[in-house]
Amino acid sequence: MSKEEELLNLSQIIAKCHRCELAKTRNHVVVGEGNINSKIMLVGEGPGYNEDMTGHAFVGKAGQLLDKELASIGLDRKVVYIANIVKCRPPQNRNPLPKEQEACINFLRKQFLIQRPRLIILLGAIAARKMIASDFKITLEHGKIIEKKGVIFVGTFHPSALLRDPAKKKLAWEDLKTIRKIIEDNKLLLFDNQ
Ligand code: URA
Repeated sequence: MSKEEELLNLSQIIAKCHRCELAKTRNHVVVGEGNINSKIMLVGEGPGYNEDMTGHAFVGKAGQLLDKELASIGLDRKVVYIANIVKCRPPQNRNPLPKEQEACINFLRKQFLIQRPRLIILLGAIAARKMIASDFKITLEHGKIIEKKGVIFVGTFHPSALLRDPAKKKLAWEDLKTIRKIIEDNKLLLFDNQ
């Protein structure tokens, strides 16, 4: 089975999920976006209003900024895969609760197993705490390269945090340059199916 077929099967399962309360208020599940053959995975927190209405990840204001960040280092959505910790929108865009993250995390693990990325970029504290370490401090540890079992993890600011506090953009730019260097050093712009 191709990665695309595996992902489609998984998406059909996620679409019917009722493992937590978020299922009751969602309009769409948001599984992920981009190229599952990429060696680069980005992980956000969870869908917001625009994502819930469309079923696509990072399509609101934060998504537009994310696109600009990717473009600044020569990337776009077609050469990475973007997913979230939770697949359904938390009401009023609150942080997903620990029990909601726990109910959903196996889906991200399955996405990881299908994609097998070499680099995982965590967008914001929620994603970094869930995927790197529960005490991860984004203000202190953003841009740090952490390698576990052959996978490189880098946490950086969530684009929404940059919209709230543009002063952080300078720091985010340093992280983006680190990310670009990892991609070049490890030749990560080649795809598994090439
Ligand atoms: N914020 C996220 O963390 N994920 C999205 O998909 C959109 C906004």
